[in-house]
Amino acid sequence: ADLAAAAFEFEPSPAPLDVAARGERLLDPGFGRVFTDHMASIRWSEDKGWHKARIVARAPLTMDPSTAVLHYAQEIFEGLKAYRLADDRFALFRADANARRFQNSARRLAMPELPEDLFVESCRALVRADRDWMPEIEGGSIYLRPFMIASEVFLGVKPSAEYHYMVIASAVGAYWKGPPRAVSLWISREHSRAAAGGTGAAKCGGNYAASLLAQAEAIKRGCDQVVFLDAVERRWVEELGGMNIFFVFADGTLRTPPLTGTILPGITRDSLITLARDMGLTVTEAPYAADQWRADAESGKLVESFACGTAAVVTPIGQVTDGDATFTIGGGGPGQLTMSLRSALEAIQRGTAKGPEGWVQPI
Ligand code: PLP
Ligand code: COI
Repeated sequence: ADLAAAAFEFEPSPAPLDVAARGERLLDPGFGRVFTDHMASIRWSEDKGWHKARIVARAPLTMDPSTAVLHYAQEIFEGLKAYRLADDRFALFRADANARRFQNSARRLAMPELPEDLFVESCRALVRADRDWMPEIEGGSIYLRPFMIASEVFLGVKPSAEYHYMVIASAVGAYWKGPPRAVSLWISREHSRAAAGGTGAAKCGGNYAASLLAQAEAIKRGCDQVVFLDAVERRWVEELGGMNIFFVFADGTLRTPPLTGTILPGITRDSLITLARDMGLTVTEAPYAADQWRADAESGKLVESFACGTAAVVTPIGQVTDGDATFTIGGGGPGQLTMSLRSALEAIQRGTAKGPEGWVQPI
């Protein structure tokens, strides 16, 4: 009945997963492997604009092998979570910010911009349909993955005349396997993620395709994640494959790379800057050289570093490998400020603490 109020037609899945099978999958879902019963779908064409907004059974897509997205990667996506609040209501966190970033990504990829209210409502409607998929475990949430593909069947290189927007949902626990720990990073000196004028600030699949080789190299070196440097000087720390980065100094100040167009403007990054400043801390958005990072870690001037993002939340960084050298951050474990920022953010997201107006959006 709720759905009828919105633009979304609801065609319930004829075969939702039974309670026992769902329960078993929700015990230890990990990240991105357990999917819910439904998906949201909206079409766009030049003549009709946005149309056919529906919540339907999650099902494989059939497409012509000449569909544009399969050839020229005209695709964008988002990532946000729905949480169960302390009072048992469900809520999205800053979904309006994801909607605006999705519009920015669309512009950069020459795609039509989905109106903010349709983006947010597609997420809300899907969570309402699949609310039984919320994991009860500590740190559990429903991860929403809105995305849009160029669906025109044509091999010419030009913006597609048709698009398909969808949202799928995944029941998730922690992003990292095993107990919470500080992760290790490997600095990619050879490959960069994005260059000035490119698509670094857009959330498009192509950016991730371009990051995989360096990420695989990091794993080969025994590290969890890759760190990308700027493409011009190969000197300034930009971000990780799927997370932004912060540095914490002994004098209590924080620093994070500035949004110069080559890194993704993370909503977690923005939220943490706000929370840290509200706590009275100084946060600078300024470039930081990888060599300086190492020197400061070794001299004790830098005491903590952490990665942040929707999937990773706030993840302490314990060690960094650069070429043949490895340096340790602080004591190598989770830093104090890192963990207090993480707790502050999670408390707001889960409704046990009050955050800035409008961040928590009950469904
Ligand atoms: N940087 C990259 C490349 C990402 O993929 C993500 C994840 O979405 C982030 C940063 C963090 O963004 P957010 O905090 O909005 O999830
Ligand atoms: C997210 O945090 O939502 C991302 O897209 C990052 C990815 C590594 C899952």
